Amino acid sequence: MRRFTLIGATALSLQPASAFAQANELVLYCSVGEEWCRAQSEAFTRETGINVLMTRKSSGETFAQIKAEEGQPRGDVWWGGTGDPHLQAAQEGLTEEYRSPLLADLQPWAVAQAETSGYKTVGIYAGALGYGYNSTMVTENPPACWSDLLDARFVDDIQVANPNSSGTSYTMLATMVQLMGEDEAFAYLAQLHANISQYTQSGAAPIRAAATGETAVGIVFMHDAVAEAVGGAPIVTVAPCEGTGYEVGSMSLILGGPNPDAAKIWYDWALSPAAQEIGATAKSFQVPSNSNAATPPEAPKLIDIKLIDYDFARFGSSEVRSALLARWDAEIGILPK
Ligand code: F6P
Repeated sequence: MRRFTLIGATALSLQPASAFAQANELVLYCSVGEEWCRAQSEAFTRETGINVLMTRKSSGETFAQIKAEEGQPRGDVWWGGTGDPHLQAAQEGLTEEYRSPLLADLQPWAVAQAETSGYKTVGIYAGALGYGYNSTMVTENPPACWSDLLDARFVDDIQVANPNSSGTSYTMLATMVQLMGEDEAFAYLAQLHANISQYTQSGAAPIRAAATGETAVGIVFMHDAVAEAVGGAPIVTVAPCEGTGYEVGSMSLILGGPNPDAAKIWYDWALSPAAQEIGATAKSFQVPSNSNAATPPEAPKLIDIKLIDYDFARFGSSEVRSALLARWDAEIGILPK
């Protein structure tokens, strides 16, 4: 275990050479932003010589793909994306139990994610849900709460993703249910629908649209709004006043994937401080799960945000996630635009 307290390449160089010799390819399903997916894959190849075949898809889409490939899995590792569909994949027997030697170095919320799933997934980062608005378009009465988004001045000027494809949007749905109760949450979403111009496929797309002035408000994880502001866009990030939910971004080994040795090498590496610090170099400002990894100074401070006690076991269960998505399709997705 001692070697894993070392970082990055040093830790990896202590792996038996035979492990790298046998493992020369990895099929990675990546559910963070494209830039981070690429930076992470390239760094891994540089350190190990293992070639990464990476596909970037949103969290719900990746879950659906792994489910569709059940019995004939083509992917090795699902890295990133919100924790709820990773928990559903664990419950449905799509992912493999693994206890990394690095578990001991992880934040309690990351270990809790592993425990909830019977060690079939693990937390790699955390981030709070919120929204961002374009301050050149919203110049008066800055919105501060979820309720402010119902204001008629935002008609057709808010974007959020579709919760079927996007983990961000499912986190919003589950957050509203936990904040208000299920019927009230659906009533809120039905009212909000009047102000939604578009349900995007990917969770972060709405804030990119707000950054370019295509929409006034994007409902996203706060770190994605911060990334646009850091990039120079006139985006103000909001932690909603009623309180908000958060994600434990997760990683899972796909059961029966074609390259199990390479998969475990990636898994242990991805939990190391050096690997987790790559995110900030790709403008990804989540809080890393390894306690020894530096949290980027730009990362929204979770301690200062009114966070709900998000029930991951419940909202990541097959029954609850499937039922909420079916109700969203029936009551919100079908509403005319
Ligand atoms: O853009 C990064 C990120 O917000 C992650 O923090 C999160 O896990 C993921 O995107 C969710 O993406 P999507 O909503 O597209 O599934």
